[in-house]
Amino acid sequence: MELNLLRLFFFIACFCPTIMVEGLVRRYKFDVVMKNTSRLCSSKPIVTVNGKSPGPTLYAREDDTVLIRVVNHVKYNVSIHWHGIRQLRTGWADGPAYITQCPIRPGHNYLYNFTITGQRGTLLWHAHILWLRATVHGAIVILPKIGVPYPFPKPHKEVVVVLGEWWKSDVEAVINEAIKSGLAPNVSDAHTINGHPGPLSKCSSQGFKLSVEVGKTYMLRIINAALNEELFFKIAGHQLTVVEVDATYVKPFKTDTIVIAPGQTTNVLISANQGSGKYMVIASPFMDAPIAVDNTTATATLHYSGTLATSSTSFVSSPPKNATPVANKFVDSLRSLNSQKYPAKVPLSVDQSLFFTIGLGVNPCPSCKAGNGSRVVADINNVTFVMPTTALLQAHFFNIKGVFTTDFPGSPLVVFNYTGKQPTNLQTVSGTKLYRLPYNATVQLILQDTGMISPENHPIHLHGFNFFVVGKGIGNFDSKNDPNKFNLVDPVERNTISVPSGGWVAIRFRADNPGVWFLHCHLEVHTTWGLKMAFLVDNGKGPNQSLLPPPKDLPKC
Ligand code: C2O
Repeated sequence: MELNLLRLFFFIACFCPTIMVEGLVRRYKFDVVMKNTSRLCSSKPIVTVNGKSPGPTLYAREDDTVLIRVVNHVKYNVSIHWHGIRQLRTGWADGPAYITQCPIRPGHNYLYNFTITGQRGTLLWHAHILWLRATVHGAIVILPKIGVPYPFPKPHKEVVVVLGEWWKSDVEAVINEAIKSGLAPNVSDAHTINGHPGPLSKCSSQGFKLSVEVGKTYMLRIINAALNEELFFKIAGHQLTVVEVDATYVKPFKTDTIVIAPGQTTNVLISANQGSGKYMVIASPFMDAPIAVDNTTATATLHYSGTLATSSTSFVSSPPKNATPVANKFVDSLRSLNSQKYPAKVPLSVDQSLFFTIGLGVNPCPSCKAGNGSRVVADINNVTFVMPTTALLQAHFFNIKGVFTTDFPGSPLVVFNYTGKQPTNLQTVSGTKLYRLPYNATVQLILQDTGMISPENHPIHLHGFNFFVVGKGIGNFDSKNDPNKFNLVDPVERNTISVPSGGWVAIRFRADNPGVWFLHCHLEVHTTWGLKMAFLVDNGKGPNQSLLPPPKDLPKC
C-alpha cells in the first residue's frame, strides 16, 4: 500500500510540469594514494584513487548532484576532470589544472560539486595534470532518470570496460626525460583491458573475464583511458551493436570492430548467441601515420557459463595498426539518434566561424642535446599554448590581469597548403591566448590537420560542451564546396573527435556555458607539447546565465 502511494506520488511528480523533480545527492571520497603494484612485468608504486587502477566507477542518475571529496595523499599536485560532464555554470568543478582550478597540493583536499543535466550514458574521470591520468582514471556511469527507459532493449547486465596503457617505468620519469631531450617520449609497454594486458601478454596475467549466459544481451560501457593511443576493440565471433557514444544516444548499428580514441566512450550491446565456449576480446592500436606506437594487443576473454576451463579460446586477429578503412567505416556509421525524445539540436546558423590548424612544430631548445638544440612542439593556429601559473578561470572571475590574453587567432595567421609539402619554417609562437565567445553564440569550428613533421590523427576534446560533427574530409578543407555536404540533420554529438590524418573535421556547438573551457588533443604527449587552447565564454544577461561564484575551498596556486 505504501509502495503504491509512493509510486503514485512519483507518477504525479514526474508528469506534472509545475513540480520540479530534483535528483539525489551522491557522495564519493577519492583518496589519491600510492599503491605498490606487481602487475605487468614490473613492481612499482603507482598513483591511484582508493588504491585501485582503474579507480572506482562513479554512478549517478541524470539530475543528480555529485559531490566528490578528492584528498591528495601523494607527492604530486593533483586535479581530477570529469570528462564530458557539461558543468553548466560550474566550471570550478571541471578539473583541468591551471585552467579552471589550481591543483590540489599534497596534503590538501577539494570538494568537486556538480549537477548532471541533460546527460545520460558513459563518461570517464581522470587526473588532469602531468601524466597522472595513466593510472588515475575510472568510469562515470550516468543512468537515465527513474522511469525513463533506454531507447533500446534493456540489457541483462552492464559491464564497464576500461582500456588503458601501461609503462613498466614511472610515467612521470618517461615524460620528464622527453621534455629534457626535446624528443618524443617512450611508447607504452602494454595495452590493458580493465587493468590487465591479458593471457597473451608476455607478462602473463589471467586477464579480464567477461562471463555471459547464453541467450542474454549485455551492454559494454567501453572507455579509452589510454594516454596516447587510439584503439581498435573487437570480440571473436560476436557482433557489436553500437547504441551510444560520449553519453549521447546514436542510431544503433552493427559492427565487428569499433575504434575509440583516448577520452571517448562507446556503449555496445552484445548478444551471447554462440552457445558455449571462450572468445577472445582484443584492444590494439590504430595509427595511420609513420609514428611509433606500442604495438601490443591487450586481450580478455568472453566466457560462456558452463564452458570447461580447459576448452580452447576462439581467436580473433587485430586489424593492422594502419587500417584507416576499418576506422572510417566505424566513424562514418555514427549518427545521432535524433528521435522525438532525443532530438539533435544542431545549430543551423553560425555566429562565429573558426578555423584551427592542429599539428606539430619545431622550436629552438639550446639545452636539448638529444634533439640537436631543438624540441618538438605542438600548436593550434601556430600558437603553442603556455600553461599559466594562476588558473585561468580564477583570473577571469576575479579580473586578475596579466594571466592571459584574448587574442587567440580565429584562423591561421599564415595560410599555406596545410596538408601539402611542409613549409621550411616549423617554428611556432608561444602564449597563453584565449578565444572569447559571446554567451549563446553558435560556433562552427573547422579542425584542420597539418603535415608539419607528419600528418597524424588527433583526437580533439572540448571541455564544457558537446558538439555536433557536421563534416569530415581528407586534404584541405574547401570552404566553398565542403559546407554543402554537411550533415545538419543527424550528425553524431560528442565531446572528443578524431581529426583524420591529413584531413579535417567540422564541428558546431552553442556557447551556452559561461566560463573558461579547455580545447586540446587528448593524446597526452601532444597536450604536453602545447596542442591546446581555451575558450572564454562570457556570461549571458538572463537569470541562470552566469558563471556561479567559486566554492570556498577552491585550491590556491
Ligand atoms: Cu579528458 Cu582535458 O580531458
